[in-house]
Amino acid sequence: MKPAVAGRKPGVDASREGVEPAALVPEHAAHVAELEALDSDLAAAYARGAEALAGAPDTATLKERQVTLLGRERGTITLELAKLPELSVEVRKTRGRALNLIKRWLGEVEAARRRALEQAEEASAAAGLDVTLPGRRPWVGRAHVLAQVQEEMLDLFHGLGYSVYQSPEVESESYNFTRLNFPPDHPARDAHDTYWIDPGAVLLRTHTSPGWVRAMEERKPPLRLVFPGRVYRSEQVDASHMDQFHQMDGLFVGRDVSMADLKGTLATFARAIYGPRVKTRIVPIYFPFVEPGCQLDIACAICEGTGRARSGQGRCPVCGGSGWSELLGAGMVHPNVFRAVGYDPEEVTGFAFGMGLERIAMARFGIPEIRLFLENDLRFLKQF
Ligand code: DAH
Repeated sequence: MKPAVAGRKPGVDASREGVEPAALVPEHAAHVAELEALDSDLAAAYARGAEALAGAPDTATLKERQVTLLGRERGTITLELAKLPELSVEVRKTRGRALNLIKRWLGEVEAARRRALEQAEEASAAAGLDVTLPGRRPWVGRAHVLAQVQEEMLDLFHGLGYSVYQSPEVESESYNFTRLNFPPDHPARDAHDTYWIDPGAVLLRTHTSPGWVRAMEERKPPLRLVFPGRVYRSEQVDASHMDQFHQMDGLFVGRDVSMADLKGTLATFARAIYGPRVKTRIVPIYFPFVEPGCQLDIACAICEGTGRARSGQGRCPVCGGSGWSELLGAGMVHPNVFRAVGYDPEEVTGFAFGMGLERIAMARFGIPEIRLFLENDLRFLKQF
């Protein structure tokens, strides 16, 4: 049993409802009767006063009522007593006696009610303080899983000498496509199903690659930059597609930057994210802004790139038999992109790469559903 409850006296009102005067002063009925014999109006006034005091819901109200009845200057009883000298000796005697009794007994009711309220207030304060309860753990927030993954990658690339370049989410058609060597009728434009703000002119960026163009226009080589951020595509949403997601491009421009540098950088990245024994491969693929273009694949964690089920029979159920999954796009910056920003492709070379953060987080933590990242369900977010 809690000590606070054990300490409570039986019969003492601990609620805020108030009580009858008789619960506080057992002689209450006798007091009323005694006053009745002296002056029935005063007896009734006493009964009302006692009820008001006993019924006070808290100490503040009790104090107010006590002042109204018994206050030294303007209390009702005080004022009545002050009138006594004006009365005849006979009346003065009985009325004086009755008023003095009332004053004393109201004082008793008031004192009893005050003790009960104070005890109840102490008891409820004590009930709220159980020193044996374990402390309440403060609710500590944390970064979103994608922010954590992004932070880790920024850290990694910072260690390789890259700094961060922020470019806008609302982008012009020219930075998103044309200056990245997408010709006006190039089929790759159709591959990006774009959210247009001003059709043909202003859009929500479909990738973070436009950042390279902006950075190169502003700065002189050498450059070593990463471009993290949110991108938008007008996709049919399903378990692996969202119409907004996050990417991070990287760009390295200088003299004699080669494909070998790109390969070394990608290998370092893959080992840092997936561990030192990760198996990767680089396969050629087309992107308009790089030449040659390639894709970095990582071996399926289950079949390790063989595509065969562990039992030896049939295809690996995880990668569906391909043995590999695509991790990012990359390549050597296309000379036309250098020309568009005023760099001389005979002077400088560079490589670039771009990856989806959701995809990396999903592969890393075995997250099956891309929609989870944006639903803000704490049961999901608290796991990371
Ligand atoms: N921007 C491409 C996309 O969103 C990805 C990409 C491919 C980025 C090759 C690159 C790159 O930097 O070199 O599909």
